[in-house]
Amino acid sequence: TPPEMIDPFGRAITYLRVSVTDRCDFRCVYCMAEDMTFLPKRDLLTLEELDRLASAFVDKGVRRLRLTGGEPLVRKNIMHLIASLSRHLQSGALDELTLTTNGSQLQRYAAELAGHGVKRLNVSLDTLDPDKFRAITRWGELDRVLQGIRAAQSAGIKVKLNAVALKGFNDLEIPEMIRWAHGEGMDLTLIETMPMGEIDEDRTDQYLPLSQVRSDLEQRFTLSDNDYKTGGPARYVTIAETGGRLGFITPMTHNFCESCNRVRVTCTGTLYMCLGQEDAADLRAPLRASEGDELLSQAIDEAIGRKPKGHDFIIDRATRRPAVSRHMSVTGG
Ligand code: GTP
Ligand code: 5AD
Ligand code: SF4
Repeated sequence: TPPEMIDPFGRAITYLRVSVTDRCDFRCVYCMAEDMTFLPKRDLLTLEELDRLASAFVDKGVRRLRLTGGEPLVRKNIMHLIASLSRHLQSGALDELTLTTNGSQLQRYAAELAGHGVKRLNVSLDTLDPDKFRAITRWGELDRVLQGIRAAQSAGIKVKLNAVALKGFNDLEIPEMIRWAHGEGMDLTLIETMPMGEIDEDRTDQYLPLSQVRSDLEQRFTLSDNDYKTGGPARYVTIAETGGRLGFITPMTHNFCESCNRVRVTCTGTLYMCLGQEDAADLRAPLRASEGDELLSQAIDEAIGRKPKGHDFIIDRATRRPAVSRHMSVTGG
Protein backbone atom coordinates (compact mmCIF):
# COMPACT_ATOMS: atom_id res chain seq x y z
CA THR A 1 0.00 0.00 0.00
CA PRO A 2 1.22 3.54 -0.73
CA PRO A 3 2.45 5.57 2.27
CA GLU A 4 0.00 7.93 3.96
CA MET A 5 0.10 10.66 6.61
CA ILE A 6 -3.23 11.12 8.36
CA ASP A 7 -3.75 13.93 10.84
CA PRO A 8 -5.88 13.78 14.01
CA PHE A 9 -8.93 14.97 12.06
CA GLY A 10 -8.66 12.22 9.46
CA ARG A 11 -7.22 14.50 6.76
CA ALA A 12 -4.59 12.96 4.48
CA ILE A 13 -1.54 15.23 4.14
CA THR A 14 -0.61 14.96 0.49
CA TYR A 15 0.66 18.46 -0.25
CA LEU A 16 3.82 20.21 0.96
CA ARG A 17 4.82 23.82 0.44
CA VAL A 18 8.55 24.44 0.79
CA SER A 19 9.67 28.00 1.34
CA VAL A 20 13.20 28.03 -0.08
CA THR A 21 14.08 31.58 0.98
CA ASP A 22 12.54 34.33 3.11
CA ARG A 23 13.92 36.93 0.70
CA CYS A 24 12.08 38.61 -2.14
CA ASP A 25 13.00 41.18 -4.73
CA PHE A 26 9.64 42.92 -4.10
CA ARG A 27 8.11 44.11 -0.82
CA CYS A 28 4.35 43.76 -1.35
CA VAL A 29 2.74 46.03 1.21
CA TYR A 30 0.32 43.39 2.59
CA CYS A 31 3.10 40.83 2.91
CA MET A 32 6.19 42.61 4.26
CA ALA A 33 7.30 45.80 5.91
CA GLU A 34 9.62 47.91 3.74
CA ASP A 35 12.48 47.46 6.15
CA MET A 36 12.66 43.72 6.75
CA THR A 37 15.43 41.83 8.50
CA PHE A 38 16.17 38.68 6.52
CA LEU A 39 17.77 35.54 7.83
CA PRO A 40 21.55 35.40 7.70
CA LYS A 41 22.73 32.89 5.07
CA ARG A 42 24.26 30.60 7.68
CA ASP A 43 20.79 29.88 9.12
CA LEU A 44 19.43 28.56 5.82
CA LEU A 45 19.19 24.89 5.06
CA THR A 46 21.43 24.02 2.13
CA LEU A 47 19.79 22.98 -1.14
CA GLU A 48 20.85 19.39 -0.36
CA GLU A 49 19.13 19.60 3.03
CA LEU A 50 15.96 21.06 1.49
CA ASP A 51 15.99 18.19 -0.98
CA ARG A 52 16.35 15.62 1.80
CA LEU A 53 13.60 17.25 3.78
CA ALA A 54 11.13 17.46 0.88
CA SER A 55 12.00 13.92 -0.20
CA ALA A 56 11.30 12.61 3.30
CA PHE A 57 7.76 13.99 2.93
CA VAL A 58 7.43 12.40 -0.52
CA ASP A 59 8.45 9.07 1.03
CA LYS A 60 5.68 9.56 3.58
CA GLY A 61 2.90 10.17 1.07
CA VAL A 62 3.15 13.75 -0.21
CA ARG A 63 2.03 13.81 -3.88
CA ARG A 64 2.38 17.51 -4.66
CA LEU A 65 5.26 19.83 -3.92
CA ARG A 66 5.08 23.59 -4.27
CA LEU A 67 8.16 25.77 -3.84
CA THR A 68 7.49 29.20 -2.41
CA GLY A 69 9.46 31.97 -0.73
CA GLY A 70 9.79 34.90 -0.25
CA GLU A 71 10.41 34.59 -3.95
CA PRO A 72 11.62 31.07 -4.73
CA LEU A 73 13.45 32.07 -7.91
CA VAL A 74 15.82 34.45 -6.08
CA ARG A 75 17.37 31.60 -4.09
CA LYS A 76 20.88 30.98 -5.42
CA ASN A 77 21.14 27.85 -7.60
CA ILE A 78 17.46 27.06 -7.13
CA MET A 79 17.44 25.16 -10.46
CA HIS A 80 19.71 22.52 -8.89
CA LEU A 81 17.04 21.79 -6.30
CA ILE A 82 14.24 21.72 -8.87
CA ALA A 83 16.23 19.47 -11.18
CA SER A 84 16.92 17.11 -8.33
CA LEU A 85 13.33 17.04 -7.03
CA SER A 86 12.05 16.29 -10.52
CA ARG A 87 13.30 12.70 -10.05
CA HIS A 88 10.17 12.14 -7.95
CA LEU A 89 8.03 13.06 -10.96
CA GLN A 90 9.90 10.57 -13.10
CA SER A 91 9.54 7.81 -10.51
CA GLY A 92 5.81 8.50 -10.24
CA ALA A 93 6.05 9.31 -6.52
CA LEU A 94 4.96 12.91 -7.15
CA ASP A 95 1.98 14.08 -9.22
CA GLU A 96 3.07 17.70 -9.36
CA LEU A 97 6.11 19.91 -8.81
CA THR A 98 5.29 23.58 -9.03
CA LEU A 99 5.99 27.07 -7.69
CA THR A 100 4.26 30.21 -6.54
CA THR A 101 6.29 33.12 -7.86
CA ASN A 102 6.12 36.86 -8.39
CA GLY A 103 7.21 36.31 -11.99
CA SER A 104 10.20 38.65 -11.93
CA GLN A 105 12.72 35.93 -12.85
CA LEU A 106 10.57 33.90 -15.24
CA GLN A 107 12.11 35.21 -18.43
CA ARG A 108 15.34 33.69 -17.31
CA TYR A 109 14.00 30.41 -15.89
CA ALA A 110 10.77 29.46 -17.72
CA ALA A 111 12.35 27.10 -20.25
CA GLU A 112 14.41 25.32 -17.59
CA LEU A 113 11.39 24.93 -15.34
CA ALA A 114 9.42 23.35 -18.16
CA GLY A 115 12.38 21.06 -18.83
CA HIS A 116 12.23 19.85 -15.22
CA GLY A 117 8.58 18.89 -15.50
CA VAL A 118 6.92 22.02 -14.10
CA LYS A 119 3.55 22.15 -15.89
CA ARG A 120 1.76 24.85 -13.91
CA LEU A 121 2.83 28.06 -12.16
CA ASN A 122 0.97 30.46 -9.91
CA VAL A 123 2.04 34.04 -10.44
CA SER A 124 1.09 36.78 -7.97
CA LEU A 125 -0.28 39.82 -9.79
CA ASP A 126 -2.51 42.33 -8.04
CA THR A 127 -2.97 44.99 -10.70
CA LEU A 128 -2.44 45.65 -14.41
CA ASP A 129 -1.58 49.30 -13.87
CA PRO A 130 2.21 49.87 -13.91
CA ASP A 131 2.08 52.71 -11.35
CA LYS A 132 -0.15 50.78 -8.98
CA PHE A 133 2.04 47.73 -9.47
CA ARG A 134 5.07 49.75 -8.46
CA ALA A 135 3.19 51.03 -5.40
CA ILE A 136 1.95 47.65 -4.17
CA THR A 137 5.32 45.90 -4.70
CA ARG A 138 7.19 49.05 -3.61
CA TRP A 139 9.44 49.00 -6.71
CA GLY A 140 8.45 46.15 -9.01
CA GLU A 141 8.30 46.52 -12.80
CA LEU A 142 5.00 45.28 -14.21
CA ASP A 143 6.40 44.85 -17.68
CA ARG A 144 9.07 42.46 -16.53
CA VAL A 145 6.44 40.29 -14.84
CA LEU A 146 4.24 40.32 -17.95
CA GLN A 147 7.21 39.25 -20.06
CA GLY A 148 7.91 36.51 -17.54
CA ILE A 149 4.35 35.25 -17.80
CA ARG A 150 4.62 35.18 -21.58
CA ALA A 151 7.90 33.29 -21.36
CA ALA A 152 6.25 30.68 -19.15
CA GLN A 153 3.32 30.32 -21.54
CA SER A 154 5.67 30.01 -24.52
CA ALA A 155 7.49 27.24 -22.67
CA GLY A 156 4.17 25.39 -22.44
CA ILE A 157 3.53 26.11 -18.75
CA LYS A 158 -0.02 26.85 -17.64
CA VAL A 159 -0.11 30.08 -15.61
CA LYS A 160 -2.67 30.93 -12.94
CA LEU A 161 -2.77 34.44 -11.54
CA ASN A 162 -3.26 35.19 -7.85
CA ALA A 163 -4.53 38.59 -6.80
CA VAL A 164 -5.06 39.67 -3.20
CA ALA A 165 -8.32 41.67 -3.16
CA LEU A 166 -7.72 45.05 -1.54
CA LYS A 167 -10.33 47.68 -0.88
CA GLY A 168 -9.47 50.99 -2.49
CA PHE A 169 -6.62 49.42 -4.40
CA ASN A 170 -7.76 46.89 -6.98
CA ASP A 171 -11.47 46.39 -6.24
CA LEU A 172 -12.61 48.47 -9.21
CA GLU A 173 -10.09 46.80 -11.47
CA ILE A 174 -11.19 43.22 -10.88
CA PRO A 175 -13.55 42.95 -13.90
CA GLU A 176 -10.78 44.22 -16.19
CA MET A 177 -8.31 41.76 -14.69
CA ILE A 178 -10.76 38.93 -15.29
CA ARG A 179 -11.22 39.88 -18.95
CA TRP A 180 -7.50 40.23 -19.49
CA ALA A 181 -6.48 37.00 -17.71
CA HIS A 182 -9.13 34.96 -19.47
CA GLY A 183 -8.27 36.54 -22.80
CA GLU A 184 -4.68 35.43 -22.29
CA GLY A 185 -5.74 31.89 -21.40
CA MET A 186 -5.14 32.12 -17.65
CA ASP A 187 -7.26 31.35 -14.61
CA LEU A 188 -7.43 34.13 -12.03
CA THR A 189 -7.83 33.55 -8.30
CA LEU A 190 -8.76 36.22 -5.79
CA ILE A 191 -7.51 35.95 -2.20
CA GLU A 192 -8.75 37.56 1.00
CA THR A 193 -6.03 39.36 2.96
CA MET A 194 -4.96 37.41 5.99
CA PRO A 195 -3.75 39.16 9.13
CA MET A 196 -0.17 37.89 9.26
CA GLY A 197 2.87 39.85 10.46
CA GLU A 198 3.24 43.53 11.25
CA ILE A 199 3.13 45.57 8.04
CA ASP A 200 3.40 49.30 7.40
CA GLU A 201 -0.10 49.78 5.99
CA ASP A 202 -3.33 49.16 7.81
CA ARG A 203 -4.70 45.86 6.70
CA THR A 204 -7.95 46.31 8.58
CA ASP A 205 -8.91 49.12 6.22
CA GLN A 206 -7.88 47.20 3.11
CA TYR A 207 -9.68 43.98 3.94
CA LEU A 208 -12.30 43.15 1.32
CA PRO A 209 -14.59 40.15 1.81
CA LEU A 210 -14.84 38.13 -1.37
CA SER A 211 -18.54 37.51 -0.75
CA GLN A 212 -18.95 41.18 -1.60
CA VAL A 213 -16.69 40.99 -4.65
CA ARG A 214 -18.71 38.06 -5.87
CA SER A 215 -22.03 39.85 -5.58
CA ASP A 216 -20.56 42.91 -7.34
CA LEU A 217 -19.32 40.69 -10.16
CA GLU A 218 -22.76 39.11 -10.49
CA GLN A 219 -24.09 42.52 -11.59
CA ARG A 220 -21.82 42.37 -14.59
CA PHE A 221 -21.06 38.75 -15.39
CA THR A 222 -22.83 35.42 -15.31
CA LEU A 223 -21.07 33.26 -12.75
CA SER A 224 -21.72 29.56 -12.44
CA ASP A 225 -20.21 27.27 -9.83
CA ASN A 226 -17.69 24.88 -11.17
CA ASP A 227 -16.33 21.70 -9.65
CA TYR A 228 -12.81 22.30 -10.98
CA LYS A 229 -10.26 21.33 -8.30
CA THR A 230 -6.53 21.84 -8.14
CA GLY A 231 -6.06 20.42 -4.67
CA GLY A 232 -5.84 23.97 -3.28
CA PRO A 233 -8.42 25.90 -1.26
CA ALA A 234 -9.84 27.92 -4.16
CA ARG A 235 -13.46 27.43 -5.20
CA TYR A 236 -13.98 28.16 -8.88
CA VAL A 237 -16.71 29.66 -10.98
CA THR A 238 -16.96 29.88 -14.75
CA ILE A 239 -17.67 33.31 -16.24
CA ALA A 240 -20.03 32.89 -19.19
CA GLU A 241 -18.93 36.13 -20.90
CA THR A 242 -15.25 35.16 -21.03
CA GLY A 243 -15.45 31.39 -20.86
CA GLY A 244 -12.69 31.47 -18.24
CA ARG A 245 -12.37 30.38 -14.62
CA LEU A 246 -12.28 32.60 -11.56
CA GLY A 247 -11.24 31.23 -8.16
CA PHE A 248 -12.02 32.51 -4.68
CA ILE A 249 -9.73 31.82 -1.71
CA THR A 250 -11.74 32.83 1.33
CA PRO A 251 -9.90 32.05 4.57
CA MET A 252 -11.80 34.84 6.34
CA THR A 253 -15.39 34.48 5.11
CA HIS A 254 -15.60 30.79 4.35
CA ASN A 255 -13.35 28.45 6.16
CA PHE A 256 -12.00 25.54 4.11
CA CYS A 257 -9.93 23.93 6.87
CA GLU A 258 -11.97 20.75 7.06
CA SER A 259 -10.56 19.67 3.71
CA CYS A 260 -7.01 20.82 4.46
CA ASN A 261 -4.38 18.58 2.86
CA ARG A 262 -1.23 20.61 3.49
CA VAL A 263 1.69 21.58 5.68
CA ARG A 264 4.59 23.99 5.13
CA VAL A 265 8.32 23.98 5.80
CA THR A 266 10.49 27.05 5.88
CA CYS A 267 14.03 27.54 4.63
CA THR A 268 15.31 26.95 8.17
CA GLY A 269 13.55 23.61 8.45
CA THR A 270 10.64 24.73 10.62
CA LEU A 271 7.40 22.90 9.93
CA TYR A 272 4.14 24.82 10.27
CA MET A 273 1.16 22.54 10.54
CA CYS A 274 -1.24 25.40 9.78
CA LEU A 275 -0.83 28.75 8.02
CA GLY A 276 -3.05 30.43 10.58
CA GLN A 277 -1.44 29.13 13.79
CA GLU A 278 1.82 29.80 15.62
CA ASP A 279 2.61 26.19 16.52
CA ALA A 280 5.65 24.79 14.70
CA ALA A 281 8.06 21.88 14.82
CA ASP A 282 11.80 22.03 14.28
CA LEU A 283 12.90 19.56 11.61
CA ARG A 284 16.42 20.92 11.23
CA ALA A 285 17.78 19.25 14.37
CA PRO A 286 16.51 15.76 13.47
CA LEU A 287 17.58 16.32 9.85
CA ARG A 288 21.13 17.13 10.94
CA ALA A 289 21.33 14.63 13.78
CA SER A 290 22.01 11.67 11.53
CA GLU A 291 22.43 10.68 7.92
CA GLY A 292 19.49 8.33 8.00
CA ASP A 293 15.92 9.65 7.99
CA GLU A 294 14.54 7.81 11.03
CA LEU A 295 14.67 10.73 13.47
CA LEU A 296 13.35 13.07 10.82
CA SER A 297 10.51 10.72 10.01
CA GLN A 298 9.60 10.46 13.70
CA ALA A 299 9.64 14.24 14.11
CA ILE A 300 7.34 14.60 11.09
CA ASP A 301 4.88 12.04 12.47
CA GLU A 302 4.83 13.80 15.83
CA ALA A 303 4.13 17.14 14.21
CA ILE A 304 1.38 15.83 11.92
CA GLY A 305 -0.09 14.27 15.06
CA ARG A 306 -0.78 17.73 16.41
CA LYS A 307 -1.99 19.50 13.27
CA PRO A 308 -4.75 21.81 14.46
CA LYS A 309 -8.31 21.67 13.25
CA GLY A 310 -8.13 25.06 11.63
CA HIS A 311 -6.89 28.62 11.75
CA ASP A 312 -7.67 31.41 14.18
CA PHE A 313 -7.54 34.36 11.81
CA ILE A 314 -9.46 37.28 13.14
CA ILE A 315 -9.19 40.86 12.03
CA ASP A 316 -9.25 42.64 15.34
CA ARG A 317 -10.70 46.08 14.67
CA ALA A 318 -9.89 47.27 18.17
CA THR A 319 -6.22 46.39 18.50
CA ARG A 320 -5.46 46.07 14.77
CA ARG A 321 -2.82 43.50 15.65
CA PRO A 322 -2.25 40.62 13.24
CA ALA A 323 -3.65 37.26 14.34
CA VAL A 324 -0.39 35.52 13.45
CA SER A 325 2.84 37.33 14.22
CA ARG A 326 5.08 35.89 11.48
CA HIS A 327 4.96 37.45 8.05
CA MET A 328 3.41 35.60 5.10
CA SER A 329 6.90 35.63 3.52
CA VAL A 330 8.14 33.12 6.13
CA THR A 331 5.95 30.38 4.65
CA GLY A 332 5.03 31.85 1.26
CA GLY A 333 1.30 31.49 1.76
P1 GTP B 1 -3.31 25.55 -6.60
O1 GTP B 1 -2.54 24.29 -6.56
O2 GTP B 1 -3.19 26.24 -7.92
O3 GTP B 1 -4.72 25.42 -6.13
O4 GTP B 1 -2.56 26.53 -5.62
P2 GTP B 1 -2.79 26.96 -4.13
O5 GTP B 1 -3.98 27.83 -4.03
O6 GTP B 1 -2.71 25.79 -3.24
O7 GTP B 1 -1.46 27.76 -3.94
P3 GTP B 1 -1.15 29.28 -4.11
O8 GTP B 1 0.27 29.47 -3.81
O9 GTP B 1 -1.64 29.81 -5.39
O10 GTP B 1 -2.02 29.84 -2.94
C1 GTP B 1 -2.58 31.08 -3.02
C2 GTP B 1 -2.78 31.64 -1.66
O11 GTP B 1 -3.86 30.99 -1.04
C3 GTP B 1 -1.64 31.39 -0.70
O12 GTP B 1 -0.61 32.25 -0.89
C4 GTP B 1 -2.33 31.65 0.58
O13 GTP B 1 -2.42 33.03 0.71
C5 GTP B 1 -3.67 31.03 0.32
N1 GTP B 1 -3.65 29.66 0.82
C6 GTP B 1 -3.18 28.56 0.21
N2 GTP B 1 -3.31 27.49 0.99
C7 GTP B 1 -3.90 27.92 2.14
C8 GTP B 1 -4.28 27.29 3.33
O14 GTP B 1 -4.12 26.10 3.53
N3 GTP B 1 -4.84 28.08 4.28
C9 GTP B 1 -5.03 29.39 4.11
N4 GTP B 1 -5.60 30.07 5.10
N5 GTP B 1 -4.68 30.02 3.00
C10 GTP B 1 -4.11 29.30 2.03
N1 5AD C 1 -2.99 37.72 2.79
C1 5AD C 1 -3.31 36.99 1.71
N2 5AD C 1 -2.46 36.64 0.76
C2 5AD C 1 -1.20 37.07 0.88
N3 5AD C 1 -0.13 36.88 0.10
C3 5AD C 1 0.92 37.48 0.69
N4 5AD C 1 0.55 38.09 1.83
C4 5AD C 1 -0.78 37.85 1.98
C5 5AD C 1 -1.74 38.18 2.96
N5 5AD C 1 -1.43 38.89 4.04
C6 5AD C 1 -0.16 36.12 -1.14
C7 5AD C 1 0.65 36.70 -2.27
C8 5AD C 1 0.95 35.49 -3.10
C9 5AD C 1 0.96 34.38 -2.11
C10 5AD C 1 2.32 33.79 -1.92
O1 5AD C 1 0.49 34.89 -0.90
O2 5AD C 1 -0.02 37.63 -3.05
O3 5AD C 1 -0.01 35.25 -4.08
FE1 SF4 D 1 -5.15 24.19 6.54
FE2 SF4 D 1 -4.63 25.94 8.40
FE3 SF4 D 1 -4.99 26.66 5.86
FE4 SF4 D 1 -7.01 25.89 7.38
S1 SF4 D 1 -5.75 27.70 7.60
S2 SF4 D 1 -6.64 25.28 5.30
S3 SF4 D 1 -6.01 24.24 8.55
S4 SF4 D 1 -3.33 25.42 6.70
